[in-house]
Amino acid sequence: MCGIVGYTGNKQAAPILLEGLSRLEYRGYDSAGIAVRNKEEDPVVIKAKGRLKVLQEKTNNGESVFGTCGIGHTRWATHGEPSETNAHPHVSDGLNVVGVHNGIIENYRELRERLEKRGYTFYSETDTEIAIKAVDYHYRKNPDNPIRAIAHAVNQMRGSYAFAIMFKNRPEEIYAARKDSPLILGRKDGETYLASDVPAILKYTRTVYYIENGQIARLTKGGLQLFNMDQEEVKAEPVEIKWDADAAEKGGYEHFMMKEIHEQPKAVRDTLHSVIKDGEIDLSAAGITEEILRNTEEIYFVACGSAYHVSMVAKNVIEDLARIPVKIELASEFRYCRPILTPKTLVVVISQSGETADSLAALREAKAQGVHTLGIVNVVGSSIARESEHTLYTLAGPEIAVATTKAYSAQLAACYALALEFARIRETITPEKYHALIGDLETLPEKIQTILEDKERLQWFAAQYANIQDAFFIGRGIDYAISMEGSLKLKEISYVHSEAYAAGELKHGTISLIEKGTLVFGIVTQQHLYEKTLSNMTEVKSRGGYIVGVTNYGNFKIEETSDFTIYIPPIDAHFTTSLAVIPLQLMAYYISVSKGLDVDKPRNLAKSVTVE
Ligand code: AGP
Repeated sequence: MCGIVGYTGNKQAAPILLEGLSRLEYRGYDSAGIAVRNKEEDPVVIKAKGRLKVLQEKTNNGESVFGTCGIGHTRWATHGEPSETNAHPHVSDGLNVVGVHNGIIENYRELRERLEKRGYTFYSETDTEIAIKAVDYHYRKNPDNPIRAIAHAVNQMRGSYAFAIMFKNRPEEIYAARKDSPLILGRKDGETYLASDVPAILKYTRTVYYIENGQIARLTKGGLQLFNMDQEEVKAEPVEIKWDADAAEKGGYEHFMMKEIHEQPKAVRDTLHSVIKDGEIDLSAAGITEEILRNTEEIYFVACGSAYHVSMVAKNVIEDLARIPVKIELASEFRYCRPILTPKTLVVVISQSGETADSLAALREAKAQGVHTLGIVNVVGSSIARESEHTLYTLAGPEIAVATTKAYSAQLAACYALALEFARIRETITPEKYHALIGDLETLPEKIQTILEDKERLQWFAAQYANIQDAFFIGRGIDYAISMEGSLKLKEISYVHSEAYAAGELKHGTISLIEKGTLVFGIVTQQHLYEKTLSNMTEVKSRGGYIVGVTNYGNFKIEETSDFTIYIPPIDAHFTTSLAVIPLQLMAYYISVSKGLDVDKPRNLAKSVTVE
């Protein structure tokens, strides 16, 4: 996610801003910038693409920029490539309004059209520039009341935002507003600070103020006021921070992985909101036209690791809903198997990093054969994003832990949307079914949250099984795909030997490995396959296996077989992966923690495998 800092006081602002931004680097970014003003003078805006070091060099570590009031930003691109032009701060004409933003303005196109009709022009590809000019528009109508100007502007915005804003005729003041994106204020000894997160200001103060959703703040030297959207002042309650800086970077979680597991409701919500407009799927942002969808007669998913497991789910869901043939292949195999592609094939490459060498090579192989390509990617401006003919971005934000969780869940959401669009175009589902499925999709974030709120039981179970040597995951259809991801999560962070098997395949050899106490996860979320998988679980149990059942709430019959049962909330069978995977992620996490392992950076692994 982007990082925001702000300062107004008696010291030089630039070094404080750069120091604060360096404390937010863990949030992931691709460019950075600051705006600093000296009393009534216009702000000086300096931006740089790449690492913070570039900005530090451009400003001589802040020494060559004078002023005691300023804002800064590290950008994680969501709209518009990483570039100096797209970097924040963004400004309106005449530097009337200068601001930075963390979040996603979903209705940015609509706002831009409205502003263009009022004579505004735009220099960047960002939703932020549009938001800042929307504030400018309202400020020109309310020059004596910045709070009202901000309230009127954000009232017209849909999505999430945390803004830090300076107004030309308000020297030494900073204004802030938030909805769903984090923003905190700090104050000490005549200095006032703001930041996306505690680490950025912990060096200066432990007294912070959390801005609530829908509140607007005015920061002055050593002072701060909070207002509601009706411009009424509200009380600001101070909070003393007890965390150290390292814990603060993880939002109070012990590991990035746990923080990211808990960011999944937001990652899924943001990704769904980017492809669902007014209750309909809208892939236009990815450039996927109805013509491409109609002309596609075969889809070929190519990916690695967890992204490949998403492809397995996508195959099941797309073939069942849209009745179009779907092939899936590991990228490392695809690039050497002389794949048979036709002009009617759509090759979809899924990649969180957008830099996985095998997946990039597979994309290039597909392009060399002249077929349509779609990248489902989390990192804006990454190689796969840039080289794909079409790109559908997941909005999971930067993922720091090597073991993917929130990006995986966001990729699932993107694939569900693709499946529904193909089914709608091909009329293989009724409009009623189409809208019902979209409605079910939109309940995913809250249902994921429900599972996350009941994790202590999993923690207890994991502590009992921290010393297992082997584990098996079995399932059929979508449940087999879930098994693959659960197995990978367990082995990659806890180093337990783990295998996933199509439940019906176990008896063709591998069941010989089952002995007393062998841990076997039976994934049973597909109603039409309950009996079949339950009988496989019974086969395993009769050979001494210890059975963990993962199933839909209400399928209590499973308790005749499973020794420990995990229930997931009700959801359409096509989307159960998004819920069943959560307890499996948590189980792997807790077992790894119980073994005292490096959860975020497991041995031998890299976050992005950029070599063959
Ligand atoms: C999953 O937890 C692993 N980190 C790994 O399997 C990963 O999914 C794979 O390397 C693909 O990475 P990508 O999505 O960045 O292409």
